[in-house]
Amino acid sequence: MLIRGISLSNFRNYKNLQVDFHPAYNILIGENAQGKTNLLEAILYTVTGKSHRTNNDLDLITKGEKLFYINLSGERYAGSVKIEISARADGKKLLKVNNQTQKKLSELLGTINAVLFSPEDMLLVKGGPSIRRRFLDIEISQTSPFYCHNLANYNRVVSQRNNLLKAVRDQKESPELLDVWDMQLVEFGSHIIKKRAEVIQKIEPLARSIHRKITAGREELNLSYIPSVDVNKGTEGTSMEDYFLQRLKETRSMEIIKGITLLGPHRDDIDIKVGDTDIRVFGSQGQQRTSAISMKLSEIEFMKKETGEYPILLLDDVMSELDAGRRKFLLGAVKGKVQIFMTTTEIEEVYQPIENNSRIFEVKNGKIFLVQEG
Ligand SMILES: Nc1ncnc2c1ncn2[C@@H]1O[C@H](COP(=O)(O)OP(=O)(O)OP(=O)(O)O)[C@@H](O)[C@H]1O
Ligand SMILES: [Mg+2]
Repeated sequence: MLIRGISLSNFRNYKNLQVDFHPAYNILIGENAQGKTNLLEAILYTVTGKSHRTNNDLDLITKGEKLFYINLSGERYAGSVKIEISARADGKKLLKVNNQTQKKLSELLGTINAVLFSPEDMLLVKGGPSIRRRFLDIEISQTSPFYCHNLANYNRVVSQRNNLLKAVRDQKESPELLDVWDMQLVEFGSHIIKKRAEVIQKIEPLARSIHRKITAGREELNLSYIPSVDVNKGTEGTSMEDYFLQRLKETRSMEIIKGITLLGPHRDDIDIKVGDTDIRVFGSQGQQRTSAISMKLSEIEFMKKETGEYPILLLDDVMSELDAGRRKFLLGAVKGKVQIFMTTTEIEEVYQPIENNSRIFEVKNGKIFLVQEG
C-alpha cells in the first residue's frame, strides 16, 4: 500500500496544501510547531477516520473556518484508491471512497492501513494497561471492521451500565435492571476478548523474532494476554459467555458499591516478559524501548499477514528518541517493505540510511517545500 499524494483544505494549520509523495521515504523536516505532526495526523485521519490526538473534529478545522476537506490518492495491489473526507463545524461529516459516498466511517477501514509510531509508543511497555489496550484496538480495528463496531458498542454499554450501577447504589433504580446490561456486556465483551486472545497469539512470535534480532539473540520476549475474564474458562462444559455472566453475578455487589463495571475487556492487559522478568515493572529503560519497538514492528508484520499488503508507516519524532543502533535496526527492518513518512527537526538523525531513495520536504508555518529528491 502506498499514498501517492494528499491535498488538504483548512486542516489544522494548513489553509491549502497539495503534496505528492515518494513511494519509499518521505522526510518532513522543520522547526517546532510548523505542521509536521499535523500532516501525519491528516494522513492517519484519512485512512482510519480517527485522529491520534483528539476525538473532536472541531480541533482539526483551521481556527476560524467552517470545514476541512482532505483528498488522498493511494495505491494497493488491486489498483488505485481515492479517499475524500470532510468534517464541518456543525458536526456533519462526508466520506467518499473511490467516489462512492459512504454512510459509515467503518467502510473506510482497510482501504489503506497505517501504523503510527510516536514517542508516546515508548510507553507501550512501561505505561498503564490502557495504552496496551489501545495498541491492540487500533491494530485489530484496521483489519476487522466488525471488531471496531463491536468495541464501540461495548464502550457504550460500559458507560451506560456504570450510570445504572451508580443509580442502584444511590437506591434510585432497582438492581434487576442490571440483568439486561449484563447480557449486552457479555455479548460484545466476549467477542473482544476472543479476538484479542487470537491476535496476541499471532503477534507474539512476530514480536519475539524481531526482538531477538535487535538484542542479537540475548533476550527472549514473551507476550501474553491477561484478560479480566479468563478466556479458557468456558471450555469445560459451559461457554465462555456463561462463565463471564456468572462472574458478573459474583461481582455485582462490589460493582454496586463502587459504581463501576469491574469485569470485562476494558480492564485487560498484556503481560510483557523478557525471560521470566516482567519488564513492564522491572525492565531497564533500554529493555522497555527495545520491547516497544518489537511490538510496533510486529504490528506491521501482522497487518501484512492479515491483509496481504504492508501498511504505510508514520514515524513522528521517533528517531530522536532512539540511539544509533536502534535507529539503524528500525529502518533496516522496514526497508523496501513499507512507505515511510517521518518527521524530524534534525536531518542528520534520519538522512544517512536513506539518502538515495527519498523526498525531503521542509515544513514551515503550514506550507511545504520540496527541498531534495533522491
Ligand atoms: N485547528 C487549528 N487551526 C490552526 N492552527 C492549528 C490548529 N491546530 C493546531 N494548530 C497549529 O499547528 C501547530 C502545531 O503543528 P504540529 O503539531 O504539526 O507541529 P510540529 O511541526 O509537529 O512541531 P513539533 O516539532 O513541536 O512536534 C501549532 O502552531 C498550532 O497552533
Ligand atoms: Mg510534532
